[in-house]
Amino acid sequence: MKKLIIANWKMQLDYKKSISLAQQYVKNIKVSKYEVVACPDFVSLANISLIFKKTEINLGAQDSAPAEKGAYTGEVSAFSLKSLGVKYVVLGHSERRQHLHENSALIRAKIQTALQAGLIPILCIGEKMAERKNKETKKYLAQELRHALKGLKIKNSRQLIIAYEPIWAISSHKNSQAVNPLEANNIHKFIQDKVLKIVGKKVRVLYGGSVNSKNSSDFLTQDKVAGLLIGRAALNLKEFKTICL
Ligand code: PGA
Repeated sequence: MKKLIIANWKMQLDYKKSISLAQQYVKNIKVSKYEVVACPDFVSLANISLIFKKTEINLGAQDSAPAEKGAYTGEVSAFSLKSLGVKYVVLGHSERRQHLHENSALIRAKIQTALQAGLIPILCIGEKMAERKNKETKKYLAQELRHALKGLKIKNSRQLIIAYEPIWAISSHKNSQAVNPLEANNIHKFIQDKVLKIVGKKVRVLYGGSVNSKNSSDFLTQDKVAGLLIGRAALNLKEFKTICL
């Protein structure tokens, strides 16, 4: 199975810039060694699904609703995303937990509905600096996993992905820096074992947080790092192109 390189564009680009970056990806990104996925904002998704249609670049969404459909003003259905050709959905990103107060119960409902729709949820987990300093990283991650995954049924190990993104390592945070790749590998093993206990399947674990073209291969060569979730560096075509080589 190819390792994954997932571009999380967040809310960094307007519609025109999103379309332009998607076109640039098609022209410049060579998809061979890794599976490449772009996650634009909802406004651009439908159009970008056409741009990516006959290419090998896959599409992801940055969120999806906990409900299937109905009177939920402003929400976007996982089923609707699936019908556009979206393959993955990022759920429980720390920015949504922080700014939109998403909790584990909500995230679990979103995962469940995304699974029903046939999307592959990418559940983001990660400790804050305080937990790291107190040497409580693993305890905290185990708790996040339990709360978000308890009771979920998955049929095979490819249906769910975990992204380990330590909050302090994400590039928008002051003094952020990537985790040491060896340390990430060790934590990924811990996460994989925990998820195996909770849902009974050995799922893939991605790393995210200040990944760039200089450190990406140090992560991708680790056996427990199944791929990368990339924010800032994915907006820079040259950087992203190098990472995907
Ligand atoms: P970053 O973001 O690569 O800019 O650190 C990663 C993420 O938040 O998914």
